[in-house]
Amino acid sequence: MSDRDGAVPAADLDPAVVARIRELRTLYPLARSAVLPALWAVQDRIGYLPAWSEEVVGRELGLLPADVAAVASFYSMYFGRPVGRHVIQVCQNVSCALRGADDLLDHLRGWLGVDGEGESPDGAFSLEGTVECLGACGGGPMMQVDRYSYESLTPERAEAILTEIRETNPEGPVGG
Ligand code: FES
Repeated sequence: MSDRDGAVPAADLDPAVVARIRELRTLYPLARSAVLPALWAVQDRIGYLPAWSEEVVGRELGLLPADVAAVASFYSMYFGRPVGRHVIQVCQNVSCALRGADDLLDHLRGWLGVDGEGESPDGAFSLEGTVECLGACGGGPMMQVDRYSYESLTPERAEAILTEIRETNPEGPVGG
């Protein structure tokens, strides 16, 4: 399998990750139930899901790569490209939109120096531009940074949160 996107080649994937995927398969009655944690295992090690992930996870779980791809592409928590050290997702769904999510996202784009979506110039953050409901509808506008949600945000509060994350977690994801 080739390294199609500059990531760790599939052949170099830590055997412990493959072992974990095999273990996950034994924990669920259906192989499909193990897809989500198996994808996490790969992403936690590499930082995102290289193109070969679908094939590796599918092979280990006895599923078609297309089955794995369907799951990986559905959830915004999985990244199909390299991302910054911390990933920011600003919900754009109805409840958050009615409470200022567009303004918050625009503000963060300017503050981070990101045009649309992508990495900040210092590589500390990736901003995802089009994210649907993240399950905190009562606390909009909200953002998720790595695996934590921050609710009832103002632009100033969001800046303060991100500044603290950049200073206190310079190497990697919060909750990773
Ligand atoms: Fe924003 Fe649900 S609408 S978290």
